[in-house]
Amino acid sequence: MNQGRITGEVVRTDFNAPQAVLHYTRAAHFLGLWESERILMERFFPDRSLHLLEAGCGAGRATLGLWHLGFTRITAFDFAGELLEQARALARALGAGQIEFVEADACDLSRSLALAGGNFDGVVFTFNGLMQIPGRSNRERALRGLRSACRPGATILFTTHDREATGPEEHQAWAAEAVRWSRGEQDRRLAEFGDRYFSDPSGSTFMHLPDRAEVLGSLAAAGWEHAFDALRREVAAESQAVRDFSDECRFWAAVNPGTCQSAPDA
Ligand SMILES: C[S@@+](CC[C@H](N)C(=O)[O-])C[C@H]1O[C@@H](n2cnc3c(N)ncnc32)[C@H](O)[C@@H]1O
Repeated sequence: MNQGRITGEVVRTDFNAPQAVLHYTRAAHFLGLWESERILMERFFPDRSLHLLEAGCGAGRATLGLWHLGFTRITAFDFAGELLEQARALARALGAGQIEFVEADACDLSRSLALAGGNFDGVVFTFNGLMQIPGRSNRERALRGLRSACRPGATILFTTHDREATGPEEHQAWAAEAVRWSRGEQDRRLAEFGDRYFSDPSGSTFMHLPDRAEVLGSLAAAGWEHAFDALRREVAAESQAVRDFSDECRFWAAVNPGTCQSAPDA
């Protein structure tokens, strides 16, 4: 097991691993959009002619979900090439070959001609992908880059966990974790309180679990104007299959208030 700090490169390697590719490809083929995703995509992107940018598209679960909703102008990117290959194959099989798939790192969008300084009408970053970027400053860099890729007035829709909106057992576990951090006894691979690195049937997974204040702070730091947030269960009752695939999470929507000038990194 990797005993160094979890970096973006570790996360990318984990997502390119066969177990993860199988897990997300199955979800793209057989699960599709969550009901909550469908409701909020239709609410925040009512016009099907919008040009949408999808960050962290993986094997295309939400990408093809957007396509089935009637969106045809979709540019989707991910930094895991193996997942992207699966997304491209699925899009071709479904006759959605006009979806543009790009290999790119959300923390470094300025390197991608197809994405940087674009004029996208909206962004989606589904299933907590933003929180799989290690380091708050890197997540804020990604949020800034995504804002720079959008026109003024564009909306970003994404999810995160919410460390505070959990049951008593989780609260106790986080209290114990806080004690470990205060004593310097935390897992040395983690950089920030709220980080987790765990293994499950989909492979090894890094995830940062924020509280609500942190996400609000990061949106503001990246120049996004908070418009909406709600727990998934407040949006829709999900099927057992969706609940088996994914934990409870918080949906966020924010608006790009500014001009398209690229925002400086922190
Ligand atoms: C939990 S998976 C979600 C995949 C897909 N959106 C879905 O909902 O099934 C998170 C995705 O974000 C991607 N990702 C994480 N960090 C990224 C980064 N820095 N740049 C681009 N993609 C990233 C991963 O490769 C992975 O495909």
